[in-house]
Amino acid sequence: MHRLNNKRILLGITGGIAAYKSAELTRLLKTAGADVRVVLTPAAAEFITPLTMQALSGNPVHQHLLDPEAEAGMGHIELARWADLIMVAPASADFMARLSNGMGNDLLTTLCLATDTSIALAPAMNQSMWRDLRTQENSNRLEQLGMKILGPGIGDQACGDTGPGRMLEPSELAEHCAKYFKTEELSGRHLVITAGPTREAIDPVRYISNHSSGKMGYALAEAAIEAGASVSLISGPVSLSPPERCKLISVTSAQEMLSASLAALDSCNIFIAAAAVADYRPADFAEQKIKKNSEEMGITLVRNPDIVATVSSHDQRPFTVGFAAETEQVVIYARGKLKRKNLDMIVANDVAQEGIGFNSDDNAVTVVTANSELTIPQTSKSQLARRLIALIAEAYENSER
Ligand code: PMT
Repeated sequence: MHRLNNKRILLGITGGIAAYKSAELTRLLKTAGADVRVVLTPAAAEFITPLTMQALSGNPVHQHLLDPEAEAGMGHIELARWADLIMVAPASADFMARLSNGMGNDLLTTLCLATDTSIALAPAMNQSMWRDLRTQENSNRLEQLGMKILGPGIGDQACGDTGPGRMLEPSELAEHCAKYFKTEELSGRHLVITAGPTREAIDPVRYISNHSSGKMGYALAEAAIEAGASVSLISGPVSLSPPERCKLISVTSAQEMLSASLAALDSCNIFIAAAAVADYRPADFAEQKIKKNSEEMGITLVRNPDIVATVSSHDQRPFTVGFAAETEQVVIYARGKLKRKNLDMIVANDVAQEGIGFNSDDNAVTVVTANSELTIPQTSKSQLARRLIALIAEAYENSER
């Protein structure tokens, strides 16, 4: 099975005998590397205990909409935002009816209404209930609303009937989860992505840097690999593990990042500059640790090369995407950088806003091109990265090259 490293899967379980299979599904998803959070409806808790699901998922189980303690931990809106994918397995006829009618009368339906992420449902019920016209209408409507209906399978049922209504096997559902994250939109393309901060040495023990954690750039690398690209990740010093199957090129300073970027341009189709490059570096590097001899100390700084602008003016210019870290007039300044640095696209983020930007798990951006602007509200960096990679792939394919 494909890996699900760092994928956040919210597994909703509704009331049905197939709920016991969700324990195995949780185990498979965890083994594939996913972070799983389980939501049980009251009926599901009659079939499988929260304790079992907590032990298997390694996370607290969410059960009630109006539970102040759970809301204090991770509220339902936060949970809806947290998920990269919501999988409801088993999905009962009652749950599908409530969801297709837009009801939010328990935690799971509310989450499904509140989320921007994709939802997959694995129906499981008696074959007559599945064939019932109302269930069919509900299923069709949910599909029209963009949800994926997985199954049901055909065969012997717990009630003694035979026919359609069996929940797909946990291994099939886990495979569907993995496939959901794989696209082919960048197949055969080579992406070079810069990430993290640069460090500009003052002396052997001190440096100038910034708060970049590398999370945004690493999430982009992961999303690009899932989209079929080969990825070179040029990273400043961060404490993240690189995605599997990417070529990691570790650098420290802006000058090293520039050299690595130029060296990778040969076969590069798309260059994404998510790194927070220090604009200045000390003019001189002190070979020995500078002593505290006076009350004040001055350091002369000189401009660093602009990496993304150098790439975008290169003979072998790839499709070039920059980021803009701004604290005011975000889109106006980003548009200025788009033009000045000769970029195809720039992703503007407000780094003064709490909870997004530097060193946070979430981000919110406006994607700016010469003739368009698209705002993507706050979401996890991994979800955002997938949206950005899809937008970049589309713009790249439409570009004249
Ligand atoms: O790493 P995280 O903690 O996840 O945080 C993500 C982020 C905030 C660092 C990221 O979303 C982001 O905004 N990256 C760009 C940061 C930045 O340096 O922005 P800027 O507006 O100063 O620079 C504009 C563009 O020029 C950027 O693409 C930057 O990589 C590039 N640049 C800047 C200076 C320089 N000398 N060379 C460059 O290539």
